[in-house]
Amino acid sequence: MTSTLITGIAELVTNDPAWSGSGVSGDVARLGIVADAAVVIEAGRVTWVGAADAVPQADSRIDVAGRAVVPGFVDSHTHLVFAGDRSGEFAARMAGTAYDGGGIATTVAATRGASDDELRGLLAARIAELRRQGTATVEIKSGYGLSIDDELRLLRLAREVTPHVTFLGAHVVPAEYAADRAAYVELVTGPMLAAVVAQRAAAYIDVFCEPRSAHAFTEDEARTILRAGQNAGLAVRVHGNQLGPGPGVRLACEMGAASVDHCTYLDEADVAALADSGTVATLLPGVEFSTRHPYPDARRLLDAGVSVALATDCNPGTCFTSSMPFVIALAVRELRMTPAEALYAATAGSAQTLGLPGRIAVGERADLTVLDAPSHLHLAYRPGVPLASTLTS
Ligand code: NIG
Ligand code: FE
Repeated sequence: MTSTLITGIAELVTNDPAWSGSGVSGDVARLGIVADAAVVIEAGRVTWVGAADAVPQADSRIDVAGRAVVPGFVDSHTHLVFAGDRSGEFAARMAGTAYDGGGIATTVAATRGASDDELRGLLAARIAELRRQGTATVEIKSGYGLSIDDELRLLRLAREVTPHVTFLGAHVVPAEYAADRAAYVELVTGPMLAAVVAQRAAAYIDVFCEPRSAHAFTEDEARTILRAGQNAGLAVRVHGNQLGPGPGVRLACEMGAASVDHCTYLDEADVAALADSGTVATLLPGVEFSTRHPYPDARRLLDAGVSVALATDCNPGTCFTSSMPFVIALAVRELRMTPAEALYAATAGSAQTLGLPGRIAVGERADLTVLDAPSHLHLAYRPGVPLASTLTS
C-alpha cells in the first residue's frame, strides 16, 4: 500500500473543531482550520493530519502550492438519472409562468423512452461535471420512472455510481393514474416498494409532499407512503414546503426523517418542530434562483438551533445546476449565511443527512477538495469561477 503526502496547504478546513484554538469561536470554530497544513492518505483513507513542518514519511507527494483544501462537498439531494430537455420550460418560467410540478411528466416520458446505455451515459457526464466542481459524495433519487420496472431501472443505474440512493416513486402521480390517485399510492406502497426492498435498491424513501401542486402528494398520502417505506426498513427524506406553506416539514419531523428538503416557506411551528427534532433542514437555493421563488430564511433556522444542509437539487425542472460552489455563493449572498456556515452546511451538514462524518480526520475517507485559492472565503467571494475540484476521490 502506498501513502501520499499532500502538502503546501495554505488553509486546511477539517470540520473537526478540535483543531480550532481557544481564540476561534462560533461558525469558524466548527471548521477546525489548520494553517500551513499537510495530510497523508493511504488506501483511500486519511492516515495523518497536521502542520506542514511536522510531516511523516510518505511514498509520494502532491504539492498544492498555497491552495486551500476543504472536505469534499456532499450533494445530498439530486435527481441525476433522466433524459430529455426542459430548457423551454425554464425560459417560459423566466417570462412569468409558475412552476407547479407538471413538467415532471415531460421528463418521465423522455426517461422511459431512453435505453439503459443512454441514461448511463447522461449520468456519467453529470457525475464527471459535479466532480470537476469539488463534489465527492452524491445522493441520487429515482422519480422519473413511476412504474415498477422504470423506478427499479433508475435506482439500479444510480447505484452504479453511488451508494446513497433514494426511492422517489412518489414524485408525482403519473398521467395514467391521474383519475385514480389512490391506486397509484397503493402501487407505490405495495408492489413497487416490495420490489425496491427485495432488490435492496435504495436506502431511503422520499415523497414530494406539496398539497399546492395537483401533481404531488397530500399530507395523508405522503404519511401513508413514508410509513410504508419506514416499516420496510427505509430511512425517510421529504420534499417539503417548496411551493408554499404546507405540512411537509412537520410530517418529516414527526416521522424522524433524516432530512426535509427545500424548507422555503416556514411558519413558527415548522421552525420549532425542526429545532426539537433530529431532522436536518436541507436548503436548495439553486431552486429559488431558477424558479424566482423567495429564498428560504436560513438565519431564522440557524438562530433557532436547527441543523442546516445545502445541496443542489440538480434536476431538469427546478434547478439544472451541479455546482455546489454556486449553491454556497447563493447561500452567502441571498440566504445570509456566513461563508463558514455555508461551507459547513455543504459538507458536514449534508453529510449528516446521509449518516457520514463530512470531515477530514484520521481514519475517515480521504475525500479532499482543493480550491484554486488561499482560503474557503473565495468560494463565495469569487462566484462563478471554477475554483474547486476533487483532489483524491
Ligand atoms: O426537487 N419538487 C419536486 N422535485 C424536483 C423537481 C423535479 C422536476 O421538476 O423535474 C425538485 O424541485
Ligand atoms: Fe428535489
